[in-house]
Amino acid sequence: MALAIRSGSLRKPSEMMKIIITTFVGVIFGFFLGISFPTISLTKMNLPSSLIPSIDLTYIEDKYSGLSTQTLLNVWSTLKSNRALLFADRGNQTKIWIPTNPKGAERLPPGIIESESDLFLRRLWGLPSEDLTITPKYLVTFTVGYNQKKNIDAAIKKFSENFTILLFHYDGRTSEWEEFEWSKRAIHVSARKQSKWWYAKRFLHPDIVAPYDYIFVWDEDLGLDHFNAEEYLKLVRKYGLEISQPGLEPNSGLTWEMTKKRDNSEVHKDAKERNGWCGDPHLPPCAAFVEIMATVFSRDAWRCVWHMVQACSTNDLVHGWGLDFALRKCVEPAHEKIGVIDAQWIVHQGVPTLGNQGQAYSGKAPWEGVRERCKREWAMFQDRLTNAEKEYLEELGVDSSNLTADNQKSIMD
Ligand SMILES: *[C@@H]1O[C@H](CO)[C@@H](O)[C@H](O)[C@H]1NC(C)=O
Ligand SMILES: *[C@@H]1O[C@H](CO)[C@@H](O)[C@H](O)[C@H]1NC(C)=O
Ligand SMILES: *[C@@H]1O[C@H](CO)[C@@H](O)[C@H](O)[C@H]1NC(C)=O
Repeated sequence: MALAIRSGSLRKPSEMMKIIITTFVGVIFGFFLGISFPTISLTKMNLPSSLIPSIDLTYIEDKYSGLSTQTLLNVWSTLKSNRALLFADRGNQTKIWIPTNPKGAERLPPGIIESESDLFLRRLWGLPSEDLTITPKYLVTFTVGYNQKKNIDAAIKKFSENFTILLFHYDGRTSEWEEFEWSKRAIHVSARKQSKWWYAKRFLHPDIVAPYDYIFVWDEDLGLDHFNAEEYLKLVRKYGLEISQPGLEPNSGLTWEMTKKRDNSEVHKDAKERNGWCGDPHLPPCAAFVEIMATVFSRDAWRCVWHMVQACSTNDLVHGWGLDFALRKCVEPAHEKIGVIDAQWIVHQGVPTLGNQGQAYSGKAPWEGVRERCKREWAMFQDRLTNAEKEYLEELGVDSSNLTADNQKSIMD
C-alpha cells in the first residue's frame, strides 16, 4: 500500500524526465540520420546506457525487424519531428498517435504507411523486385461487351507493352476473351450492366492508378486504324495537355466542332461552333472541352476528375453530355490544358452498346430509358456542382450570383 502511494507520487517528475530524454534522444537520432549509416543498429548506438531502459529500443527494433534499419531511422526521425508521439513506458506498448497520418491510420508509424499501390500483375514466387520485366507507365481501360470483341482485339494491339490493360465487362462474359493472347496480361473486372463511370469510380481510385502517367478511359466502339498510343502521348506531352482525346473522323454522326479531327494539324485547343453556342470562346463547347468517349487524363487531372464524378452515368447515346462540360473544373487554365490530338485520330463507330442493355418500361424503348436517365443524372450533377461552388463562395463572402449561368448548359437533343 505504502509502496503504491510512493511510486504514484514519483510519477510526475519521472514523466518530465522522460520527455526531456525523448527530446534528447531525438536530437541524437537526427544527428545519426544526418550521417546516415545504412546498417546502424539502434541498440548498438553509443547512447548513455542509462537511457536505453527508459525507451525500450530493443523492443521496438524487434517489432520492426522486417524493415531495414534505414527505414526504421526514417520512421524515428518522423516521429521525432512529430510531437504527437506518446511514450507510455509502463510495461505498456509504445503508443503512437500521428494526426497527420491518413484518417484511421493514426496509430501507425508513418514509415509503414502505404497510401498508394498499382495494378501491376505479379507472380507468386521469386523476388518481388524481379516480378516485372517492364513497368507499365500508362493505363488503358475499355468498357466492353463480348459482341465488340473484334473491335477491342484490334484496338488493344495499338497499345504497347508499356500499358496496363484493364477491361470492364458489362455483360458478364469474361472467360470468352481468353482466346486472345493479350487477355492473359489484361485485368478483367466484371459487373453486369454498369456504365463506364460506375466502373471508373470504383476501380480507378487515384491512389491505385498513381503509378501511371496517363490513364485512358475509353469506350468500346472506337476504330483505331489511324492511332498509335505512344505517338499520341508524345504529342500530349509536347503540348502540355492534362485532358485530351484523339480527333474524331468527321462522319455522319453528330460531332462537336471541337472534337473533329483537323487535317495538317498536330493538336488544336479551340473551335468555332454554330452561332450562339459558345458564350465564351474559352469555355465548352468551343474550348476547354473534350468528349468522354475516348478521354485521356494525366495522373493529376484524373485525381481531380475521380473526386468529381459520383453516380454520373453517361454513355455514347448522348455523346457524353454532361461530364465533358465539367472536366475543365479540374485543370487551370483549362483552355490551354485540354485539347484534341489531330495527328493520331480515331473513328467513333457509334454502335449503340450499353444503351441496349437497358430495359423497356412504361412503353419506352430501352435506349430511351437510358437516355432519360442520363439527362436526369446530368441535371443532378449540375445542381450538385453549382450548389457546391455557391456554398464555397458564400463562405468566402464572394458574390456567386452568376455561377448558375456558367454551369448550367441546357441539354440539346
Ligand atoms: C497501461 O498503462 C496504464 C497507466 O499508465 C495502466 O492503467 C494500464 O493498465 C496499462 N495497460 C496495460 C495493458 O498494461
Ligand atoms: C516503352 O517505353 C520505353 C521507355 O519510355 C520506350 O523506350 C519504348 O520505346 C516504349 N515502347 C514502345 C513500343 O513504344
Ligand atoms: C461574374 O463572372 C465574372 C467572370 O467570371 C466576374 O468577373 C464577375 O465578378 C462575376 N460576378 C458578377 C456579379 O458579375
